[in-house]
Amino acid sequence: MSSFKFALFQFCLVMLCFHETSKTRKERYGMDKYRDFDPNGTRDRYCKPPACVPGTGRNLVRLDGVEVGYSRTLESAPGTTHTLITINMKPLIFEIPHFMSDEECDHLIRLAEDKGLQNSTTRSGRPNRKMALFDFNGDKKIDLNEMRVTMEDMFDMYLEEDEILEIYDQLDWDGNGDGILDRSELGTVTKEELKHFVMQWIAAKPHLRSRYSEQTWLYPNQVQDDIVDQFMLRIHSVLQLPEPLIDKHNEFQVVKYHVGGHYNAHVDSAPLSDLRCCHLTSSTQCRICRYATVMVYLTDVEEGGETAFPVANNASYNVQTLRTGRKLNLNRHCHESNLMVKPEKGKALVWYNHFIDEKTGWIGKVDNYTWHGGCPVVKGTKWIANRWINVSQTEMLI
Ligand code: OGA
Ligand code: FE2
Repeated sequence: MSSFKFALFQFCLVMLCFHETSKTRKERYGMDKYRDFDPNGTRDRYCKPPACVPGTGRNLVRLDGVEVGYSRTLESAPGTTHTLITINMKPLIFEIPHFMSDEECDHLIRLAEDKGLQNSTTRSGRPNRKMALFDFNGDKKIDLNEMRVTMEDMFDMYLEEDEILEIYDQLDWDGNGDGILDRSELGTVTKEELKHFVMQWIAAKPHLRSRYSEQTWLYPNQVQDDIVDQFMLRIHSVLQLPEPLIDKHNEFQVVKYHVGGHYNAHVDSAPLSDLRCCHLTSSTQCRICRYATVMVYLTDVEEGGETAFPVANNASYNVQTLRTGRKLNLNRHCHESNLMVKPEKGKALVWYNHFIDEKTGWIGKVDNYTWHGGCPVVKGTKWIANRWINVSQTEMLI
């Protein structure tokens, strides 16, 4: 299939998907059904038929956003309530102010510091992969935009045109200096030479990577800590998640961004496929299976460090336009994003990376509107905790 047809096909699939899933509770059931919502009601009230199997406690729940600004109070433990505010519908995003207290946030930071942080990595940028230049228009020449996407895909390195020109200069690559590599110019630098040069270049400029932060993983079973236990339980009870998901695969990530730290736009999960979920295998041949993301800001940030959703609410989503455009480079173009959320200590952001499959009631298609990332920190330090709700498409169905 040509890339254009493929993009069109994907677009149609997404539109189909949204046609089904963007119906609000109001549209599905009528106004009064959500107006008289009872925060202490059963979990089945949140399900979309046929996902609800009353009484099994094994439904994968997707809370209803209702509409932007809709606020509901949920109980996470007897006497402890949290307010969930719908801040966006496409993708569906909830904000929970004060999800964690200041002391709980400080405690998680301390645990992460005690464990020790490492430089963050990503699954993209695969220098060992076969090198292929992106020639979108098939003219056998590589222009600056095509080289930019090539560098992003191959080396996880996000460059602006002036930086690419600097690389050309240093490699003496673009003989006539027109910014376009034609066939003869392309032949003057081997793939090995390019790879070698770029690897050194990135090592010296780590901020050009898609992700520039430090992180660590905390394993609740290993830390044996009341605050960590409560953090996990709170997430599950607020999101009405099936109990068996609580104690499985239960690590979470703590991330620290210094000034300049950022995370370019990405989707936290991957489309369903026959590949095994990474949380269920030690093989690197796996895909990430994260039904939902719960991200808690553990600090305020003096300036910058917003969480951005560059394609939120776009009339249409087109992967090709996204790749060839610049909006994914949040390090440089964060403020062109359609939605930005300001970090506030203790606040949680929640979104579903997948829809629920109406037939199975279990994890379904990826919500492509969830592309998101972290804008560069301008002043201060940003800490977050990421808890991803791992769900395999086959596990838990029986
Ligand atoms: C992530 C992420 C956003 C942020 O860690 O996966 O998307 O605001 N972070 O830091
Ligand atoms: Fe993310």
